[in-house]
Amino acid sequence: MAALQQLSPVFPIGSRINDQGHLEVGGCDALDLAAEFGTPAYVVAEDDLRVRARQFKDAFAAHTGDYEVVFASKAFPCTAVMRVFAEEGLGCDVASAGELALALQAGFPGERIHLHGNAKSLDELRVARAANVRHVVIDNIDEIARLEQVVREDAGPPQPVSIRVTPGVRGDTHDKISTGQTDSKFGLTGADVQNAIERIEGSDQLELEGVHMHIGSQLLALAPFREAVEAIAELPKFREVNLGGGLGVAYTREQEPPRIADYVQTKVSAVREVFGDGVRVVDEPGRALVANSTVTLYTVQSVKTNVSTYVAVDGGMSDNLRPMLYGARYEAHAAAQPATGGVPCKLVGKHCESGDVIVEDAHLPDPKVGDVIVTPATGGYGFAMANTYNGIPRAPVVFASGGDARVVVRRERPEELFARDV
Ligand code: LLP
Repeated sequence: MAALQQLSPVFPIGSRINDQGHLEVGGCDALDLAAEFGTPAYVVAEDDLRVRARQFKDAFAAHTGDYEVVFASKAFPCTAVMRVFAEEGLGCDVASAGELALALQAGFPGERIHLHGNAKSLDELRVARAANVRHVVIDNIDEIARLEQVVREDAGPPQPVSIRVTPGVRGDTHDKISTGQTDSKFGLTGADVQNAIERIEGSDQLELEGVHMHIGSQLLALAPFREAVEAIAELPKFREVNLGGGLGVAYTREQEPPRIADYVQTKVSAVREVFGDGVRVVDEPGRALVANSTVTLYTVQSVKTNVSTYVAVDGGMSDNLRPMLYGARYEAHAAAQPATGGVPCKLVGKHCESGDVIVEDAHLPDPKVGDVIVTPATGGYGFAMANTYNGIPRAPVVFASGGDARVVVRRERPEELFARDV
């Protein structure tokens, strides 16, 4: 019976309800995973990461031979995840020396790494240079002299750069993750764009190769991506146009994000129409590569009813800050009966704040202490923004594929909470 019920489409590719009626991810029974690895835990369906990486590449290859898909590592800065994308031939976007270290550790060669950041330090520029990064993406006028200084210090060849511009296009997303509007801390606007171009073109240390923009994240409409390219039509034709990321995903079954193929088609055709051929199209997806690959497993610790029914689990805002920060919505399912509705309840975390609510409007079948609860679509910016609030050690990352599971990041230990004490 259970196997006939429909699993929500927001689960990782290949997830299903097995013969026991339990959720299966990467060929592994979610209850077995919870028993073996403990909860909370992030479970990543490794094959899902690979499928989506290939969907992006195939979509580009269908339109142009001159493209690069760059994983925005901030979305899931975990070496094992990044290693998958390195193996799949993607590039890597890093926004700090720390992400750069992770990218190198994951096996990305320097020439496939792009360094971002609106406040890059001298030291970050030095390590980027030492790693031979492909592009330093110039975000503001101030960093130009700083990067020139770094190039002078090592006396090597000029550093290839691109400039990040802010196109003045506002997509429909949460204010905190919208970046395309003119009033933004990111990128160059107005006269600064021309100033930066002149400044870099007159520099012996820098070589201007491209233009970059990123208008925002979790965008569920394609029109703003096209408008953003049209908005920079007056710029000179550069060798490379990097369009950032931004493709939204479905967190709940009602959401309908554009298909990867349509997103790519929109971006490539906009670049071809505005700048013609001979321009490499670079894209930097983060969330769309990782969000739906992952589920978080929790165990119920308490169920109580007052005005509402509160189902409290062993994680929360330390492993998923997104509901708290952006009012983000997720689904919750019982791992033992993943397609069954049930009593309306609030799935809440264990942190000392009333706002630590993971799913405000959950429906769980007869929730009880000990139940394993799953929230799908937690791969994007979940692990990335994990923290140890209330002294909760950070959750492990488990890869599941073909019925085998392995820990790729172990659970943090309590003594690591004071490991940095001096
Ligand atoms: N490129 C640049 C320069 C970016 O700043 C970002 C995301 C991306 C690419 C990838 O964007 P995506 O494809 O993932 O939309 N913590 C927030 C998201 C912050 C996004 C920051 N920049 C969240 O949990 O929703």
